[in-house]
Amino acid sequence: MITFNKPLIINLKNYSEISGDNSIRIVEDAKNARLMNHADIVVAPPPSSILALSKIAIPIVSQHVDDAAIGATTGFIVPEIVKSYGAVGSIINHSEHKIEYLQIKSLVKRLRDLEMVSIVCAADLDEVEKTSRLSPDFLAIEPPELIGKGVAVSKANPSIVRNSVKVVKRVSPAVKVICGAGIVDKYDVEKAIELGAEGILISSGIVKSSSWYDKILELASVLK
Ligand code: G3P
Repeated sequence: MITFNKPLIINLKNYSEISGDNSIRIVEDAKNARLMNHADIVVAPPPSSILALSKIAIPIVSQHVDDAAIGATTGFIVPEIVKSYGAVGSIINHSEHKIEYLQIKSLVKRLRDLEMVSIVCAADLDEVEKTSRLSPDFLAIEPPELIGKGVAVSKANPSIVRNSVKVVKRVSPAVKVICGAGIVDKYDVEKAIELGAEGILISSGIVKSSSWYDKILELASVLK
């Protein structure tokens, strides 16, 4: 089964900057940055583009999956189908797409059975504690109030990163903690690593930067 080592996971969200062919350009930039510095760079594009983007040699994860059955279901994002399109894992329970605890539980297991990587998001320490019991591969701590604000969680709220690492290592030591929200430069990434994070989940700091390639290279250089 694939795993990520200190990943830089780039969530493209549904930003207009990555619409149409721009999604191919940003994933090409991520691939070239990955080739250049060998960091584990991973992209989470809108699910509708997974099939096209997974042809580019870089790991792709879904931004979300639903706990809907494969077969006669309509409009859901189904793990088996995204896997068939080339995704190697999925984000679950992002604060912009929350789901019920029992669905998270079921999806972590389902992804594991499919040999796909699970990245479960948590908004606070309470959620960190509950969801780490499910033993996802990665637990991403992202305080929603800092998302997209350009002020890094690792600087604005270092204790939530440090405490998330403590809680996870007590509850489920194999789970790797990553962090996100407001990360914009390599110093934010350095600080996150210093606090015990083992990777970064990022969106606007890259998608809205003037050079995708340069920004990805800058941030990934700290994660090699
Ligand atoms: O999934 C990543 C995310 O929610 C953080 O967003 O824009 O603060 O990097 P951003």
